[in-house]
This record gives sequence, structure tokens and C-alpha cells, in this order.
Amino acid sequence: KENIYILAIESSCDDTSAAVLCNDRILSNVVASQKIHKEYGGVVPELASRAHQSNIVPVVDQAIKQAKINKEQLHAIAFTRGPGLMGSLLVGTSFAKSLAFGLDIPLIDVNHMQGHILAHFIDEDGYKKPKFPFLAMTISGGHTQIVKVTNYFEMKVIGETIDDAVGEAYDKSGKILGLGYPAGPQIDKLAQTGNPKAFKFTKPKVVGLNFSFSGLKTGILYFVQREVKKNPNFVEENLADICASIQYTIIGILMDKLKLAVKQTGIKQIAIGGGVSANSGIRAALKNGEQKFGWTTYIPKFEYTTDNAAMIAIVGYLKYLENDFSGFDVMATARLKI
Ligand code: KG4
Ligand code: ZN
Repeated sequence: KENIYILAIESSCDDTSAAVLCNDRILSNVVASQKIHKEYGGVVPELASRAHQSNIVPVVDQAIKQAKINKEQLHAIAFTRGPGLMGSLLVGTSFAKSLAFGLDIPLIDVNHMQGHILAHFIDEDGYKKPKFPFLAMTISGGHTQIVKVTNYFEMKVIGETIDDAVGEAYDKSGKILGLGYPAGPQIDKLAQTGNPKAFKFTKPKVVGLNFSFSGLKTGILYFVQREVKKNPNFVEENLADICASIQYTIIGILMDKLKLAVKQTGIKQIAIGGGVSANSGIRAALKNGEQKFGWTTYIPKFEYTTDNAAMIAIVGYLKYLENDFSGFDVMATARLKI
């Protein structure tokens, strides 16, 4: 059987990434993370698209070199069509089109959210792939979603955030506490030495499987402002306890919804993705779910959970096998649905 080589490009947010895959194995996965946004405490769309412009050629070039193949061996170019920031998506989309046109090979558009989910099907030694049907929970700075996955391309969003993403809740809480961006990993680290029950934050009241995090952020802001009025050193003196309490609340929100999703669907296979899946609290909670409720949980390698082109490449490969190609008139779509 002939080996299929696919080059994939991801540029939906603030990471410029290119990957080369041979069938379902990743040969290279290069990510240029944009540092510029740190100064602003969040992603600045205009700056992100400019950085993609300067990163894209070197990143693609490096991915091809690391894979030790020639451009002429490629069978198709896959790219992220959406969802994401329009200016960022346009850079990857236009580049992918030009390259596919130049090499005279097919173009494959990929939904970024499907990428996060199908990243679990990248063939890795020692990694057990989820069995259908399963629940995919994608948690990152841009997304919070629970998806029922019946087959590679049969997916249904059964719950999602109605405002902020969970990673945003971490980052915005961190900003209130004076932590740098992104604050998620720092809160996670500090939380490990604090008391999770020291302070109580109210969980949002959202019915069903949808999430909301903006109320929590406001709650934390008011709480900190109130306490600082009484004691100007409140944050410094209680940082670990505050972080542990925030983490306890956020993980509680995620787990409440996950348990409800399992109850509603009867599916106990749970695959998670997105940057927040690195969180120690969610990892411990999932382990607990395995022991207590008989769940089987799946967490891919860290480099495949944050935004990366390897996950776009595996979707490209699965679409290639179905002869599911795009026309050259395909357009970047900021609000693309699963
Ligand atoms: O997937 P990702 O790299 O980029 C997108 O947002 O798509 O996710 C980044 C997000 C940030 O909000 C960051 O604070 C959060 O993931 N994050 C964490 C942890 N590591 C990254 N949040 C909580 N605990 C962590 N250990
Ligand atoms: Zn993402």
C-alpha cells in the first residue's frame, strides 16, 4: 500500500503551526508560539495575523525538513478553515491554497474543533485510541465544549460555553490576582499548595450541558476588591488558598457537566483536549471518575492538546481516505460549526 503524506497548516489563533504526517503517524509538528501577546495579557488579533505572516514560511519549511521529505512527495495540503480569528485564518488559508495550487495537489479544509477531537487518532506508541461512541470535552483558552462523537465525522455539540472559555476564566482570574499571562499553569501550580475550601465562589446556574464562566470571574473580582479593602496584603498572604479555591470551583463546574453528559448519553468513554487538559485538577478528577464511575478517559500527548497542526493533519488524512477535498474557492470561516 502506498504511503500518504499530508502537510497541514494551523493558524486559527496565536500559534503558527505546520505538521507533516505519513498515514496516521506524525513526522513533524512545528509550532511557533507568538510571545507578543504576553505584553497585552491576551491575544491581540491584529498582531496575531501579522506574526502569522512572518512565521508561516519558516514554520512550513522547518516541518518539511524535519519530516525528511520533499514537497513533491506530498499528496495533499490540509489547513484550518475555522473557527478562529479571521485575520489569522486568512493567512493559513491563503498559504495552503497557493501551495496546493503550485504543487498541483488536493486541498483539504479542516474544522479546528474536529482537529482537537480527532487528535486522539494520531498513532502513537503506547497510546490507546478512544472507541466510538465517546464524549469529547475540549477545554482551552478559546473553547469549552462537550461533543458526542459517534464516528470520525459524526459529531454533535451537546454543550458549550455561553460566554468565556474555561482557559479564559483561568487567565482573567490570574489577571485579577496580578499573575502574568497565561495564568492557567500558574494558578494550577499555586493551587497545589493551597486549601481548596478556603474561599467559596458561587457556581453559575446554567441548565443542561452549557457552561458559563463570566459570572465567576466577576465574583472573584468583587471578592478580591472587598478583601483588599480590609487588608491590602490579602492577595499576597492568601495566594495559594485563593488559587486552590478558584481551581476547585472551575474543576467542579467541568465535572458537574461531564457527569450530566454521561448520565444523559450513557457514554462512559471520555476524551479530553485543549490546553486546559494539562491541568492537574482535571487530571485527578478524571482518574477519580475512572475509579468511582467506571469511566475510561483519554488524554493525548500535551503537544497534541494545545493548538497544533498535527491534529489538523490527522483530520486531513481521514478526509483524504474519503476523497473529501475542497474547492479552491473555499473560504476561511471565523464561526465555523462542527
Ligand atoms: O489550547 P491552548 O494552548 O490555546 C487555546 O486557547 O486554544 O490553551 C491555552 C489555555 C490558556 O488559557 C491557559 O491558561 C490554559 O490553556 N492552561 C491551563 C493550564 N495549562 C494551560 N489552565 C489551567 N491549568 C493548566 N495547567
Ligand atoms: Zn484550539
